[in-house]
Amino acid sequence: MIERRFTRIQTELPGPKSAAVFAKKAKYVAVPIETYAPFVIDRSEGAIVEDLDGNRFIDFSGGWGCLNVGQRNARVIAALKDQLDHFLHTDFTAVPYAPFVDLAELLVARTPIPGEVKAAFFNSGAEAVENAVKIARAYTKRKAVLVFDNAFHGRTLLAMTMTHKANPYKMGFGPFAPDVYRLPYPYPYRNDVTADDIEQRLLSLVDPSEVAVMVVEPVIGEGGFIVPPDWFLPALRKLADKYGFVLVFDEVQSGIGRTGKFFAFEHFNVIPDLICVAKSIGAGVPLSGVIGKATVMDAPVPNGIGGTYGGNPLACRAAIEVLKAFDTDNLLDRAVHVGNRIKGHFLRLQERYAVVGDVRGLGAMIGMELVADRATKQPAKELAGEIAHHALRNGAIFPTAGLYGNVIRVLVSLVITDDQIDEGMAILEDAFAANLS
Ligand SMILES: Cc1ncc(COP(=O)(O)O)c(C=O)c1O
Repeated sequence: MIERRFTRIQTELPGPKSAAVFAKKAKYVAVPIETYAPFVIDRSEGAIVEDLDGNRFIDFSGGWGCLNVGQRNARVIAALKDQLDHFLHTDFTAVPYAPFVDLAELLVARTPIPGEVKAAFFNSGAEAVENAVKIARAYTKRKAVLVFDNAFHGRTLLAMTMTHKANPYKMGFGPFAPDVYRLPYPYPYRNDVTADDIEQRLLSLVDPSEVAVMVVEPVIGEGGFIVPPDWFLPALRKLADKYGFVLVFDEVQSGIGRTGKFFAFEHFNVIPDLICVAKSIGAGVPLSGVIGKATVMDAPVPNGIGGTYGGNPLACRAAIEVLKAFDTDNLLDRAVHVGNRIKGHFLRLQERYAVVGDVRGLGAMIGMELVADRATKQPAKELAGEIAHHALRNGAIFPTAGLYGNVIRVLVSLVITDDQIDEGMAILEDAFAANLS
């Protein structure tokens, strides 16, 4: 029996008001824009979502990892309201504004790269990745791009090419961008990879003197919350130095405090050349950025990178408050606490249910991989989907992930309370019991 304090399911899902929106969606919105939740949101606060019919859910998806400081964070809302009273848009490259520069200063101060560091802002994670590659190409005057197994870097042409999973991200969308080469990423639960394997694969695929850039997620996000062994990122740094290419960490999902450090790479003894950020940096307002060594960042010609809405004033004001919130609200410690509490629940599920093959993560970036059999580790994709949907219909939103779609993951707002975590976990437990008894 779930003791409900924060969740409430008072209609069928979708309820009548949500159903009316879905009926209109079916008529006017393109089919590939598929939606996950069987309800339509009306309002949200912190980690709680209320739908149009008054049903309430605990959101462990955090808008797919965009809401580390919580939905409608009070500081962010106040700054946005203030900005509304000043101006909405100019395009920073037409008429510049201070919040763009202030944000760059604050973000650079948070970035543990020695020497002079600079930033540039865009709109989406994919754009940050594309711009990091452009900057690296301009700097090295080389072309080739190295990426990894299980990577997700976005949906624009180059970012889609850099992404691993074909279905759904690449289906019918070729031809893909040239000069992108994929290397093995260690997946401790499934396969061992050595630094030598990675270098040998690199040398077999491309002349290293043609490589401009290597882009890697310090912890794999969409590909299944894979935490690499400690040697991995430093080994990539060595390869970058040996062959003279730029090392980019894609922190779009793992960054902005999710893992208990501001950037996930800070858990490993390594320094990148460039970092991509997006998602939680804007607290729900579209914003992305590339931050890195000034010598590399300054390489493209003036106006070589940019974009009409890149680093728009609302987004920069929100992001400045996000950075401040990390200091005032101690969110890095909170990420560790939230992660430990959720991990405890996941480990208890693993003791009880053989289908939970692996529980893993860093800080609040926690996931569990479901398998049909612990010996063969055959992915249990359908079961993961059924459990996540059961929980969704019962009041807790959990996204799934992974090349095989069999990882239940958590991208919850770091401001979630302990009681909310426990209620959400009771709902997840109920979903396990319902599907496995
Ligand atoms: C690691 C990583 N890079 C890039 C992206 C693309 O970001 P966006 O959807 O904002 O383009 C994502 C999105 O999930 C991501 O997780």
